[in-house]
Parts: sequence; C-alpha cells; structure tokens
Amino acid sequence: MTQKLLSKLTHLVVTTPKLEESLRCYRDVIGLEVSGEQNGSFFLRGWGEHYKYSIELKEGSVGSVETIGWRTEGQHELEMAVRRLEASGNGIGWVEPNFGRGRAYRYMDPSGHQHEVFWEIERYKATGDVAPLFPNRAQKFRPRGCAVREIDHVTMNSQDILRDIKWFQETLGHKYMEYITAPRGVVFAMTTTGERGHDMALVPELPGLKGRVNHIAFWLDQRVELHRAADVLLDEGIEIEFGPGRHGLGEQEYLYFREPSGLRIEFNAGGYRNVIPDWEPVGWTVNQGANVWYKNQAMPESMFESFPSEGELEASEDAQHHFRETTFFQ
Ligand SMILES: [Fe+2]
Repeated sequence: MTQKLLSKLTHLVVTTPKLEESLRCYRDVIGLEVSGEQNGSFFLRGWGEHYKYSIELKEGSVGSVETIGWRTEGQHELEMAVRRLEASGNGIGWVEPNFGRGRAYRYMDPSGHQHEVFWEIERYKATGDVAPLFPNRAQKFRPRGCAVREIDHVTMNSQDILRDIKWFQETLGHKYMEYITAPRGVVFAMTTTGERGHDMALVPELPGLKGRVNHIAFWLDQRVELHRAADVLLDEGIEIEFGPGRHGLGEQEYLYFREPSGLRIEFNAGGYRNVIPDWEPVGWTVNQGANVWYKNQAMPESMFESFPSEGELEASEDAQHHFRETTFFQ
C-alpha cells in the first residue's frame, strides 16, 4: 500500500472543434457556471465546487481531454509525488500557474495521457446576486439545465490495464477499487483518491493508439436529479446513448450522452462510500451485473467508441501526432 498523495480529481482540459456549441452545452445544458475566460479558454465549474474551475474548455482539432489535473493532500505530498514521478521516468516538468491553479508538475501516464499535479489553488467565492447565504457553499444554488454539482471522474483508454493500475497505485497512491474480467482478461478497472467508488477508470485501448479517453463524468447529488437530467437532455434534442440505469461497480446511477464535439459525457448519482484503507479490489463478471445492476439491458456497441475516434484521427494530422503511438499514420 502506497501513501495517499492525491486529494481529488480537480480539473480536465477539454478540447473541442466546436467551441461555441460545446460552451453552450456545458453551460446551458449540463449547467456548469462560467467563472472566466483567458487566452481563448473558458473556465467552468459545477455550482457546488469550491475551486475556480473543473473544466477548461478550449478550441482543438478534435474532441478530447488534453490534461487531467489532481490536487495533492499538501505541499509535502506534492514534493513526494514529483520525486516519484521523476524516478519513474514519466515526469515532463513544471508548468506555470493557470487561472487559480498554482504551479503544477506535468507527467505522462504509461498509456500516454497527460496529467498535472499541484497543491496551491485559489478558492471560488461568488459575489453579488449569487453570493451564498449558507456559509459552507461557494455560491447560491441556482439550477440551470441539468445543474450538475461537480466533476466526478474520467475514464481513459489503456494499452495494459493491470500495468497502468499498478503504476498509478505505486507512484501516486491511487486506491484500486473494482474491476471487470472477461475471457480475454481485465476489461475495466477503477481507482479512487477519495471516498467514492472511483474518480478514474481504465478501459482497453486499440493497438497503436495512446492518450485517448472514453468519457468524462459529472456528479448529481440524487438519483431523482439524474432522471430529471434525462428529461432535460431529451428536451434539448440530445440523444441518451445509454441509461438511465445503475452500474454494479460503484453502485452508481448512470446515463451517457455526447456533447457537440462528440466527446461522451456521463452523469452519476448515488453509489457507496468506502474509506477502508486496506480494501482489496473486487472482481466482477459482466453477467453478475457489473455494467447493468438490473441485468435487463445490454450496453450498446457505440459505448466502445473512444476519443478522438478512429474517424477523427484519420481526418486530422494534428490529432494523429498526439494520439498515434508513432507520428506516422499506419
Ligand atoms: Fe464512468
């Protein structure tokens, strides 16, 4: 068991080729608050979040996640994390503060996703009309669209799930919670830095690709809110790809849809809490209800599509450079 160094998944840098449409979706449909704009990026946060942003939305050639941000437990833990990342050979280097997030250390995980880890961060506190009356909140609850409360998790593609899980556990102390096995081996695994079932998950990657994600997820407090969100999405003309339903792993209620860039978004509600420090990861088979608790729905084939998709990669030389294992299209 490695010491816990990370406190939370804090932010994702998301790229979209349709900046205006994606911004409208994150703000008006998903219901995030825009806390500012800087150098062409929009910074957004859920109404319940205490930091200045959980999504940095910027223009890019494809819909994808460029960087995954984690806040450490403290300054000492940041220094330990950097030492371990440097020793692992996966360190990239320090980057300057960005919109309230202090100086951060960047690194690449073994499957080619860029992350950053930091301690210093500015808190968000609303003023004026949305200044909170409840002293423990960053702002008034003024729901818009699906009104998600906060960021929940990111699910990434991995060339070798067990290798990567071991790397995350040993390097940074991510806690390995649950996994799904199929005849060909482990096809899903999830880790957490907090009390929820997961804040990061891994699914298999296609040969020759790296750094892709399957989806990003936001949190709603209650299951009834997730079902209300389903109605909001349908009223907006947005197709629900899968759900609402309940996953076996994590026991969370889910639904999935796509934002205008094509990137898959999940909403979660409910689920267990787990603070057992010597938890042993739990294995499932699909027929035990791993994906679908009620065992009455099949996950659609489309859910295996990850981002950027193969079609987008064929269309974009720029994206090939980032997401192919070689820079030459094979
Ligand atoms: Fe998920």
